[in-house]
Amino acid sequence: SRQWRGLIEEYRSRLPVSDKTPVVTLREGGTPLVYACVLSEMTGCEVWIKVEGANPTGSFKDRGMTMAISKAAEEGAKAVICASTGNTSASAAAYAVKAGMVCAVLVPSGKIALGKMAQALVHGAKILQVDGNFDDCLTLARKLSESYPVSLVNSVNPFRIEGQKTGAFEIVDFLGDAPDIHCLPVGNAGNITAYWKGFVEYATDGVATKRPREWGFQAAGAAPIVNGAPVMHPSTIATAIRIGNPASWEQAVAARDESGGLIDAVTDREILSAYRLLAAKEAVFVEPASAASVAGLLKKHKEGLLDPGQTVVCTVTGNGLKDPEWAIAGAPQPTHVAVDAYAAALQLGLA
Ligand code: F0G
Repeated sequence: SRQWRGLIEEYRSRLPVSDKTPVVTLREGGTPLVYACVLSEMTGCEVWIKVEGANPTGSFKDRGMTMAISKAAEEGAKAVICASTGNTSASAAAYAVKAGMVCAVLVPSGKIALGKMAQALVHGAKILQVDGNFDDCLTLARKLSESYPVSLVNSVNPFRIEGQKTGAFEIVDFLGDAPDIHCLPVGNAGNITAYWKGFVEYATDGVATKRPREWGFQAAGAAPIVNGAPVMHPSTIATAIRIGNPASWEQAVAARDESGGLIDAVTDREILSAYRLLAAKEAVFVEPASAASVAGLLKKHKEGLLDPGQTVVCTVTGNGLKDPEWAIAGAPQPTHVAVDAYAAALQLGLA
């Protein structure tokens, strides 16, 4: 028995690294693939949940960030920059600390979850709250990286995609083959691009016998790919995917079409319902955006698009603790009790 070494060491032969690459790692990857009893029962399929919130900073971004920061270090970078709805900034901030780099983050003012802001702050990132949305932040970050000595670590950085494709490898390595369907949330569309790359690579090399259909889900108020046009004022409670003009739009459409998959929208109501189901029935606490994958699966099941017996993996991208507001809202307030066993037993319905 040995410990997981982090995804660069585990998948070194499939990643663009060499002996000269300083590996900046927090031992990311190797996340749980949890069998979803209730979702399997509900859909008649074999449903698995890839719990990316178990990564070091609580989201899948760490897969991309270990690669992006390691390559930036190899190139001698002293500073990195990113635009973010929160998770990328949390991850960049942590890996920059590990690499001894300065980290600058641009976030949409007032639109990132509390836990993510806390992470960027505690890791010492330079944070700018931009008076605009994520798309504006990305435009600004790109301009800054073009004109100043700072490396861009958003998913338009190809090393991010390379790191994130390892999520697909882990799924195949664990299940023994690719699933029939892979569901995931879509925001800036880097992750669907990365997973598809990973699945294609494994199938091409004969590690898997097939490739899954990619089922991507956007929030209804921020669904440019579904609408076929950018959304000027994206709106959803799932702040992580509140994006109106995804950078990897074309690659996401290619992943959809080459895989025979789909990209659809789910409402905030559907997202919150899946969010509560995941926590209450599957014991997996995710942030709202992550629940879009499961909301989408249930929507497609309702529409009759799921054949019984298929193997489905839902990637849930971020930890529930990032955005606790939604766990507390709508839940009953815990009642107070004196230090009295009988009173407590009465309250608990035990007596
Ligand atoms: N889920 C979570 C929890 C995310 O943070 C993101 C993206 C996505 C899904 C969508 O992934 O952009 O590759 O399609 N978050 C980025 C950020 C935009 O800045 O943290 P995508």
